[in-house]
Amino acid sequence: MQEQIQKLSEEIDKVVADTRDSLESYRLKFISKKGVISQLFDEFRGLSGEEKKKVGKALNELKQAAEERFKSLQDTLESKKGQGDIDIDLTLPPVEEQIGNLHPLNLTRYKIIQIFERLGFNVSDGPEIEDDWHNFSALNFPENHPAREMQDTFFIEKNPDMLLRTHTSNVQIRLMGKQKPPIRSIMPGRVYRNEAISARAHCFFHQVEGLYVDRNVSFADLKQTLYHFAKEMYGKDIQIRFRPSFFPFTEPSAEIDISCLICYGDGCTVCKHSGWVEIAGSGMVHPNVLKNCGIDPEEYTGFAFGMGIERVTQLRYRVNDLRLYSENDIRFLKQFKSVI
Ligand code: PHE
Repeated sequence: MQEQIQKLSEEIDKVVADTRDSLESYRLKFISKKGVISQLFDEFRGLSGEEKKKVGKALNELKQAAEERFKSLQDTLESKKGQGDIDIDLTLPPVEEQIGNLHPLNLTRYKIIQIFERLGFNVSDGPEIEDDWHNFSALNFPENHPAREMQDTFFIEKNPDMLLRTHTSNVQIRLMGKQKPPIRSIMPGRVYRNEAISARAHCFFHQVEGLYVDRNVSFADLKQTLYHFAKEMYGKDIQIRFRPSFFPFTEPSAEIDISCLICYGDGCTVCKHSGWVEIAGSGMVHPNVLKNCGIDPEEYTGFAFGMGIERVTQLRYRVNDLRLYSENDIRFLKQFKSVI
């Protein structure tokens, strides 16, 4: 028996187990109840007292060595895991696939586009770096209007002025410059204003402006179109009101408010306790603007409107801080997964 113990001990020293299967073979051969060492213990029981004395210690040492070896083989195998060369455990649950989702601002933008497309509006695009004419002058901004100041607008060059557009109205000017009425178009896009970043303001945001120019377009068309939009976006119970306002490029002009969807009229910080939230500016296109674009204001009239996508989104999903939209925090963004 001594010889056998010696042989097995050498074998154990030499054994390699670089896969789960070879480790299992080792376990069956040396450690399990039916393994060789167990057998030796069975034989040991039948030995005489003298013989037992001779091999007992060695046999126990062999058993201990086999178990220690098993442990170390197992550890080596574990540490190799994840290094790519090890077998795969097909019984583990699969790793969940990470599929992204649309940004909430895009969800809203697509919804706005969808609503106006059904009314016959197409989608127009234009540059974010704009000259003075398309962003201000053609839109009837007076020479000393505050938006023309550095504190309000990001200028890239002065004389002649190049700037980051402050609204997507520049696309209206470009469109009217190259297309004869009827024009029915919306202009989604990013716009820039020189504002300190806070929960309520940002140096850039997104707008959708709209323009409808044709013969006999009236303020009634404007009201009905935006009323329809509000109902499609927020449901048929939404209330809408037009408040007289001023823009250099529209006359008459109106601010559009909807009933507050955060507090339903009870009063909250979003509606500043008035029950109404402003979502858009609007009005009849000023005759000077039509003239600036080569359209005869005696023959054609038009309405225009502009809304902030962030604001529309805030009321849709109750997002209370503008900064969340551009921080790329996955905990915020993934909440919109189920909305698609
Ligand atoms: N251009 C305006 C703005 O950025 C929005 C607007 C568009 C208002 C069209 C009236 C008509 O604030």
